[in-house]
Amino acid sequence: MRTPVDQPIYLDYQATTPLDGRVLDAMLPYLAGTFGNPSSIHEFGFAAAEAVDRARAKIAAGLGAERREIIFTSGATEANNLALKGLAAAAAPRRHHLVASATEHPAVLEPLETLARAGFDITLLEVDQDGLPDLDRLAAVVDERTLVVSVAAANSEIGTIPPLRAIADICHAQGALLHTDAAQAVGKIPLDVDREGVDLLSVSAHKLYGPKGVGALFVRHEHRPKLRPLLDGGGQEQGLRSGTLNVPAIVGFGAAIELAGEKLPQEARRLAHLRDRLRDALTQER
Ligand SMILES: Cc1ncc(COP(=O)(O)O)c(C=O)c1O
Repeated sequence: MRTPVDQPIYLDYQATTPLDGRVLDAMLPYLAGTFGNPSSIHEFGFAAAEAVDRARAKIAAGLGAERREIIFTSGATEANNLALKGLAAAAAPRRHHLVASATEHPAVLEPLETLARAGFDITLLEVDQDGLPDLDRLAAVVDERTLVVSVAAANSEIGTIPPLRAIADICHAQGALLHTDAAQAVGKIPLDVDREGVDLLSVSAHKLYGPKGVGALFVRHEHRPKLRPLLDGGGQEQGLRSGTLNVPAIVGFGAAIELAGEKLPQEARRLAHLRDRLRDALTQER
């Protein structure tokens, strides 16, 4: 039998987090009992649709958004693809330039690579020694041809947090949109779509003690950007993401974001303390 010393310690919470027991409890009734398709127009469907609606309200509240601004997806990868490819496919021909930080996650860089092959102009901004995009350089490259700028709300490898509001102001001055991949930020730092001025935001449940395979794209309702869906089908999620909704996962996502919001201030302090202790111990001279 393994002693506690031999047990591996899981420190890879940026990759994924374990499911919170309370999230599992919230999901269980929707795996078997309340199994209806939320698009069905009968009692079973209505019960499922109500659960989806409650979860949507929690996710919207967690982001400072409205319910109608939340489009469920299979995770942040799909949300990023929908944001970037969806905007590009619906854009006016003169807005053919997309900008991102060079340190974005592959779930942003790869869709941009695909768009580059399709003829869009892509600018990848180098970051400074702290891993942050240079705002003067950003202001110099964003112009009236720019469709969208994509900068993560927290970097997935080194955790740097860029000044989204200042980036949004630079984008909006040229009529460009700001998309942020917030997979590593939601539930960890306070985030409010209005305060930050973001137009589109991607989030993933499994980074915040929720289930894998579910996430969302926030799309601002005011001056709603035109998006072409990635999938054609039944027209769920306001026509932006066809496919039967994953009700148990969505319910779990709602529970997870609510729990994360409740414990955010204490948890942020606890994690900062643990980080400092680890760094200090690692850098101590022996
Ligand atoms: C910043 C960032 N974006 C996107 C993803 C992918 O998210 P998902 O697993 O929900 O597709 C991750 C996780 O690996 C991430 O850290």
